[in-house]
Amino acid sequence: MPLVNSKELFEKAYKGGYAIGAFNCNNMEIVQAITEAAKECNSPVILQVSAGARKYAKPVYLKKMVEAAVEDTGLPIVLHLDHGADFEICKDCIDGGFTSVMIDASSKPFEENIAITRKVVEYAHAHKPYVTVEAELGTLAGIEDDVKVEHGSESYTKPEQVEEFVRRTGVDSLAIAIGTSHGAYKFKPEQCTRDPKTGVLCPPPLRFDILEEVSKRLPGFPIVLHGSSSVNQEYVKIINDNGGALVDAVGVPEDQLRQASTMAVCKINIDSDLRLAMTAGIREHMKAHPDHFDPRQYVGDGRKYVKDIVKHKIVDVLGSNDKI
Ligand code: G3H
Ligand code: 13P
Ligand code: ZN
Repeated sequence: MPLVNSKELFEKAYKGGYAIGAFNCNNMEIVQAITEAAKECNSPVILQVSAGARKYAKPVYLKKMVEAAVEDTGLPIVLHLDHGADFEICKDCIDGGFTSVMIDASSKPFEENIAITRKVVEYAHAHKPYVTVEAELGTLAGIEDDVKVEHGSESYTKPEQVEEFVRRTGVDSLAIAIGTSHGAYKFKPEQCTRDPKTGVLCPPPLRFDILEEVSKRLPGFPIVLHGSSSVNQEYVKIINDNGGALVDAVGVPEDQLRQASTMAVCKINIDSDLRLAMTAGIREHMKAHPDHFDPRQYVGDGRKYVKDIVKHKIVDVLGSNDKI
């Protein structure tokens, strides 16, 4: 099976009440961990690549590694550009064989967002085979590549804008802002309550009212959630027990993402949780074996932890297992 776009996957996910995981990849071990987990769970999967990943690994390496994963697993895999900042990077990825792109003009005024998104959609949809396009309305807090949105400067998606945006752009899916946020420090401690027993922060709930209003206005249309790592505390603990110093790292609770997956949300973006799992595996290995210096030993443990967390997400959060 060749790489696929997201159209049919989202149609099935919407009807089936589950979401597809969109996991960021930067190197071979991460690609292998994600796709081996998806294979064992019999799940479709989206491998996404940011501008930073392209800079780190070079586009050609990422493309060939993802193609290798398709050949190795036989899974329906989407190769997606994450947070494309302008038309040029989207065009470059479409010309280079990506099957899906995100144009992220969400920081621009509404009319400008529409114009840039429309231009990308025209190019992507004219491509043979058809390349699917994701766009964004509203802004999330956190860091993406060079763009840092301070807490307090984020803005929820305005449901009254979504129909016009989708109609005028022709976009295939829409990322919305309902309180998720990028990175491992999604909420400031003062936005959270603290569990008196564990000391772990409990963040404010997602704005399901906005999600519901958006899906009423766009029936059957696939919605995307960015910034959806849950910052699983067992990995934070392993990191901190083995020399790390992650203080008050907090994410979106998994039960809320589970709920969103049963609604109009068809794609959930997870990156930070994989970074934490990789770091936990490597730190634990290094502390236990200070004499080791073969990268296959410690990176191999990181890969195993990433595979474990991806399986957990597929089965317990996304519900995309056994959907092939
Ligand atoms: O949303 C951003 C992703 O986590 C990618 O992060 O730009 O550091 O590769 P990055
Ligand atoms: P996290 O930082 O929550 O993993 O979000 C990743 C993301 O949205 C990638 O686009
Ligand atoms: Zn994102």
